[in-house]
This record gives sequence, C-alpha cells and structure tokens, in this order.
Amino acid sequence: MTHFLDIHKTSKADLRNILDVAKTVKDARAGLPKATLDAEQPLAGHMVALIFEKPSTRTRVSFDVGVRQMGGQTMVLSGQDMQLGHGETIADTARVLSRYVDMIMIRTFEEDTLLELADHATVPVINGLTNRTHPCQIMADILTFEEHRGPIKGKKVVWVGDGNNVCASFLHAAGQFGFDMTFTGPETLDPEQEFIDLARAEGSTIEIVRDPFEAVKGADLVVADTWVSMHDSQTTKERRHNQLRAYQVNDELMSHAKPDSLFMHCLPAHREEEATSSVMDGPHSVIFDEAENRLHAQKAVMRWCLGK
Ligand code: CP
Ligand code: NVA
Repeated sequence: MTHFLDIHKTSKADLRNILDVAKTVKDARAGLPKATLDAEQPLAGHMVALIFEKPSTRTRVSFDVGVRQMGGQTMVLSGQDMQLGHGETIADTARVLSRYVDMIMIRTFEEDTLLELADHATVPVINGLTNRTHPCQIMADILTFEEHRGPIKGKKVVWVGDGNNVCASFLHAAGQFGFDMTFTGPETLDPEQEFIDLARAEGSTIEIVRDPFEAVKGADLVVADTWVSMHDSQTTKERRHNQLRAYQVNDELMSHAKPDSLFMHCLPAHREEEATSSVMDGPHSVIFDEAENRLHAQKAVMRWCLGK
C-alpha cells in the first residue's frame, strides 16, 4: 500500500517525481502545453474520505477541489461525528472505511492515530497534519520555492519561532531535498532532536541560532508559523507569546536575510504576531502561492498513492 505519511518515508526519487507531476498538472490548468493530465480524469469512479479531527480551511478545500478536478468524489467527515470519536478503535475504522472508499486523508492529533490507520487500511492513507508533522504543506512549499528561485538543493532555509509540526516536516524535507536549515527560537520550543538528527544523517547542515538577526543572515527563505498551534494548550498562550515576541518576522528582520529571500507562512496567520502585514503582503512574501500550491502538490500526491 502506498501511503503518504511523512516526507522522510517517501523516497527522494518519488518526492521529486511528485513535484514534477504537480508542476505539470498546475501548468496544464493554466492552459500551457501538456494540458492533458486532468482531461484523463485519473480519479474517475474513486471515492476519497477526508477526515478532520481539527479545523481546516486550506487542507479541506484543496483536497476536495483536487479530487473533483481529477474526476473523483469526496466525503468530508468530522472525527467527532464518527464512531471513531466515541470509542471505536482506529484499526476497526480503517478496516471498515477501506471497504467503502479508495483513499483516506486524515488530519488528527496523535501521530499514532495516523500510523494505526495506515497499518490497518487496505487503501492509501495521507497525512493531512498531526501534532508532529504536516508533509503536504511542505511539498507545496518546496514547489513554491522552486517556482520562484529554482532548485532548493543547497539553499538556506531559516525557521523562525516555534519548532512545531510544520517545522518538523521542513526538517524532513531538508534531508530529502538536500537543503540546509537554521532554527531560531527560544530553547524550550526547539524542534525535536529526532528531526534534526534525521536531516543531519542525510548530509544537511542544521543549526540552532538563538539570535534571530544572526540566524537569518544569508537566508534564501524565511519561514514563520503561528505561535500557538491547534494542539497546544491555550494555558500556554501567554507564556509562548512572551517567549516568541522577539522572534516576530518584520521588515527589520527580513532586511538581514538575502535581498532576494522569500518569506513563507503556511497560514492561518495571526497578523502582527508571528509576522507583520508589511512582510506578509510585502515583496518577499509568497504565502498565497503556497496556499494555491497545496492543490497542485496534493493532486500529485494522490496520483502517486493510487499509482495513476
Ligand atoms: N496550512 C494549512 O494546513 O491550513 P488549514 O489549517 O486551513 O488546512
Ligand atoms: N502549526 C499549525 C499549522 C496549521 C496549519 C498548527 O498545527 O496549528
């Protein structure tokens, strides 16, 4: 079974192929040559379950639209409305859903839920975000970077703020796509060592630099995310804000990165907290290209999962 669970679990060749297909399907919709892929309707007759245990705008809409563009149908399910949310095991849910649908995308809390679902499903399972990782986002982000600046291999990406789930998938991508990464944020919010070790084992230079101005020197890409993620307790909100205020991405911080550096944020953003509107809407920002590219990247991920 071909699941898309995390970037480091997919081979480098397959990741590159997925991005090539994503670019091709994107160009096809823009009316450029090779405009044949969607016409093939590769998901005709396929039903895709989209399960959400957390809120979503981009993931929900981009998967739904992507499946429909490829001729398939979707069923959007809320975890709370399923028996899954009321004591039915994940394994049984996986076995039952596999009898009805051709692919499952899930956004959930615990990584173990995703892994157990994948273990027991007989159809492909896609990670639509867990507390630990968000691989579909980073596939869209690599696509976005390369559209604007060419190959990401050898570039310097600086993650500013909380070493969260999105940061973790960026670290996975650093190892697989061969770029370097610097994390800058308070020590208590460092990314897990496991993610850093994996990237280093693949040959990427991964640094932790506490001073954000020092960290962004030479950056080709500066990335921010919310200071409080969906799985974080609201009781930590004030402490996190106090710790992270010095790590706001504003015009001054961006002026210390390379002049042609890009700024990314997976969204949703809290404007004037982790990043100012002047940066989000400014010349470095590609945040809405990232959002659009969720659609194209995920269409390619789904085709890969189904062998289409
Ligand atoms: N970036 C992202 O995954 O957005 P949603 O939470 O809106 O899906
Ligand atoms: N880190 C954020 C990403 C949202 C897409 C969260 O998990 O809430």
